[in-house]
Amino acid sequence: MPTAESAEDGATAEARAQLVADLVREGRVHSPRIRAALEAVPRHLFLPGHDPATAYADEAVPIKSDGGVTVSSVSQPSMVAIMLEQLDAAPGHRVLEIGAGAGWNAGLLAHVVGPDGAVTTVDIDDDLVAGARANLAAAGVDGVETVIADGAGGHPGSAPYDRIELTVGSTGVRPEWVAQLVPGGRLVLPLTVRGSQLSVAFALTGPGRLSSTSVRSCAFVRLRGAGADPGADAVLPGCGWTVQSAGPGAGPAGLRTLERAVREPGEDRPSPAPGSVSDLWDGLGLWCALADPAVVRLFGPSGPGLAAALFPLAGARAGLGLTGHDGCAVLLAEPAATIRSFGPGAGAAADRLGALIEDWVAAGRPHAADLRIDAVVPALAVAPGPGPDADREIIDSAGTRLRLSWDTGRG
Ligand SMILES: C[S@@+](CC[C@H](N)C(=O)[O-])C[C@H]1O[C@@H](n2cnc3c(N)ncnc32)[C@H](O)[C@@H]1O
Repeated sequence: MPTAESAEDGATAEARAQLVADLVREGRVHSPRIRAALEAVPRHLFLPGHDPATAYADEAVPIKSDGGVTVSSVSQPSMVAIMLEQLDAAPGHRVLEIGAGAGWNAGLLAHVVGPDGAVTTVDIDDDLVAGARANLAAAGVDGVETVIADGAGGHPGSAPYDRIELTVGSTGVRPEWVAQLVPGGRLVLPLTVRGSQLSVAFALTGPGRLSSTSVRSCAFVRLRGAGADPGADAVLPGCGWTVQSAGPGAGPAGLRTLERAVREPGEDRPSPAPGSVSDLWDGLGLWCALADPAVVRLFGPSGPGLAAALFPLAGARAGLGLTGHDGCAVLLAEPAATIRSFGPGAGAAADRLGALIEDWVAAGRPHAADLRIDAVVPALAVAPGPGPDADREIIDSAGTRLRLSWDTGRG
């Protein structure tokens, strides 16, 4: 007869095996090393106080909040797997993780690099580092260096690293991280580019020069400390709508235009293509945001007017639009394939949004995986090259120059 304890262990082991099998079936996990790590390092031991069903669901689990905002979580297993594949760590590698959280990913990394490798994980909060240390010990994972530090500076004490992975979002590729990589090393980070957060795997191709090897959509909590960036999000007074801008911000006039649009009737015209809620971040939304800093994503409560015509998202509404100082345009969910525009400049805004959608369709509807990012860190590059070409380069919050190109298969 199994005891209660062994029966519980059996159910927990089964839940873990099922999660790993699902991640393999869904194509999140390819490498046998990563599969073995996910099988060996029990996620539930990094979520004390949660039941196995929560620990082995493919969802992020918040573990710390500040003023109602989540500042730490145990990341979603499928995202963790995607980033480990992007990182491509191998036995013997020295790895730095920035964003220890509860320590689960550090445990996985330690399993991947094995006894000849080394893992250092840092978190900005001492209570989280203490928890990660205890969780790693409970899971029997030895040898992970756990450090309380602001990861904006990396961790020079144990550098250089073959691999650096951020599990927290940044708006810039900081020179400190690039300087702590070995030649040919790899940096994986959730990088916000024009309001879109992307998990980018960069290979160091020369001093201060990086090229992406893989790009995926993601959604991580943001860096606190010296690398924190308030971003360009704004709240429309009175209606509770959040506006996430691709550029430096919609500006007061653009926000006023959007505020009127939430309440007032607009002009409808056909869109070159319909959208879907998943297009808001990846695919169409990413294409539009990278092409034009006037692009915005809108989030707001369900309600009458414009809200009713937008895409349902987790009990609220979301949309993709574009705003100028005297006109804005929004792609509607209902009626499908419709652009609604507002203000004296409605026609120009609708023309521009329609043209962006048309370009995306003509390019074969690319998404994040079709994006390539080349980066130059001026402080580290031997010959930083010519000055930025405003049409093709974006300077991120750390001063790194990002050149974006789409692999649309059109030559
Ligand atoms: C999504 S959680 C990390 C998840 C974790 N790696 C796991 O295994 O599930 C992001 C973490 O980044 C940490 N963080 C935020 N800003 C930081 C900073 N400047 N330096 C180091 N860690 C930071 C947060 O405290 C939080 O614990």
